[in-house]
Amino acid sequence: MKYYLTTAIPYVNGKPHLGHAMEFVMADVLARAARIDGKEVVFSTGTDEHGGKIAEKAAELGIAPKQLADDMSQQFRDLIEALNVKPDRFIRTTDEAHKKRAQLIWKALEKDIYKNTYVGWYCTGDEEFFTETQVKDNNGICPDHNRPYEKIEEENYFFRLSHYTEQIRTAIKDGSFVVVPETRKNEIMSLIDSGLEDISISRPKAKLDWGIPVPGDTTQVMYVWFDALLNYITVLGYPEHADFAKYWPADVQVVGKGILRFHAAIWPGILLGLGLPLPKVLYVHGYVNVGGQKMSKSLGNSVSPNDIIDKYGADAFRYYFLRH
Ligand code: MSP
Repeated sequence: MKYYLTTAIPYVNGKPHLGHAMEFVMADVLARAARIDGKEVVFSTGTDEHGGKIAEKAAELGIAPKQLADDMSQQFRDLIEALNVKPDRFIRTTDEAHKKRAQLIWKALEKDIYKNTYVGWYCTGDEEFFTETQVKDNNGICPDHNRPYEKIEEENYFFRLSHYTEQIRTAIKDGSFVVVPETRKNEIMSLIDSGLEDISISRPKAKLDWGIPVPGDTTQVMYVWFDALLNYITVLGYPEHADFAKYWPADVQVVGKGILRFHAAIWPGILLGLGLPLPKVLYVHGYVNVGGQKMSKSLGNSVSPNDIIDKYGADAFRYYFLRH
């Protein structure tokens, strides 16, 4: 029997921290258990390398985005090794194969893609678009990153997510797409009940050129989240590779609670648009906090896992973070 398992792919705007390490270890334990069970396992992880967040950091350091991505992606690999985590695949979204396949997917989705003007707010820290109400509720400052939301008015391509609302709701409700724990399932159900809106999936190249070019339009690049989510199938060689036919849908996708909406609403929408089955289980974990705040590269309160591993060893590290 096959078993396909994924983690979120971290951004490469900074070094890995304890939160990333915990997620790798959680997935590794599931992969090892499945291997002991005699399953044919593909455990995939990697790095998310496009978008404004990485372009901004690279500019700050005075280096090319690709240089930053190369350095940081290697640091994530080194951490994985130090943790004794054994993925079968490691994908980088700057890999040529990923870029090519992402463009194929864009074309396959064209019936659900249209151009429109986006007017709203953005936080590059989250790489996320926000509504007027959300921005008002937070007095104009993103609470995750302590920085003002950026007002955006631009031509974007949109994906018709609204079209798939009912299908996503049904899949979660009838358990064909399981979201655990229950609290996260309830959270996403209430979001779906309030209505899923179409989402912007591109940015003008004039504002941000660190992204995968939109096929047939030299003025736009793909929105980083659109490109990143596709990694879960491009890594299997979607559409033509035998691995894709064998391993998709994923048995478990492991992600943190802050990216629930991307994985339990947007990603299922894209899959439905492609006529593909949804993952079986989305496992959503909580955060490692520092002084009550999320540990985050953007907030600069990261603790390096390497110091702890050097002092106590990988096994103690693994046990401690899983135990809690
Ligand atoms: N690049 C996106 C994911 C794209 S997946 C198609 C991203 N990157 S991240 O670097 O911010 O986070 C990577 C993973 O680590 C996510 O699952 C995220 O929730 C998790 N964590 C980030 N900070 C965390 C903690 N402080 N604690 C536990 N996990 C956290 O989101």
